[in-house]
Amino acid sequence: MLRIMPQPVSRLKLAVLASGRGSNFEALQREIEENALPAVIQVVISDREQAPVLEKARRLGIPALYINPGQFADRQQYEQELVRVCEAYEVELVVLAGYMRILGETFIRSYLWRIINIHPALLPSFPGLNAQRQAVEYGVRFSGCTVHFVDQGVDTGPIILQAVVPVYPDDDEESLSQRILKEEHRLLPQAVRLIAEGRLELNGRKVNILP
Ligand code: GAR
Repeated sequence: MLRIMPQPVSRLKLAVLASGRGSNFEALQREIEENALPAVIQVVISDREQAPVLEKARRLGIPALYINPGQFADRQQYEQELVRVCEAYEVELVVLAGYMRILGETFIRSYLWRIINIHPALLPSFPGLNAQRQAVEYGVRFSGCTVHFVDQGVDTGPIILQAVVPVYPDDDEESLSQRILKEEHRLLPQAVRLIAEGRLELNGRKVNILP
């Protein structure tokens, strides 16, 4: 049994890694500003120079860095740089919020059980890319989103929280994505709060939520 954050913290220091729009980043920051979330976003890191999330963070006065994976000889060196930056910002929890890259051993080992990801499907269904489209095309009646710890697999880590939404016959990828996104914005801050409050315990691949 492993207690993720043995002591509750008053302000859990976060890094947000994101590749695109950044609505989940905004949802986290909103809850922090409303004092609903005992956390602080120390740094936002993107692998895409034009990612809107960087501009959104800068406007809020949050350090926002573009780290170009292409400028490193290999994935290991890129991830060493990610670790260096996270350590420099004293990051305690790494939140993947629409970060479209698979992290490898170098990064995961450095932040084991300190990296969480939000995925727009009910894992283990529809891992990987275009999860909402996969769900529509498969014809499921329900989908949703999952917040999970990141391990070496693709969307395979221990599940922290899930939320369910219905899939209607006339849904397309866009309409389903919107419905799921609303739940994501609720679920991700909730998972961060559980960690900040020291309320998660890992038992094999099961995550216990303590009262
Ligand atoms: C979200 O729907 C998130 O679940 C998804 O990317 C979107 C990012 O939106 N993540 C993945 O698909 C990861 N495989 P955002 O940039 O507005 O937060």
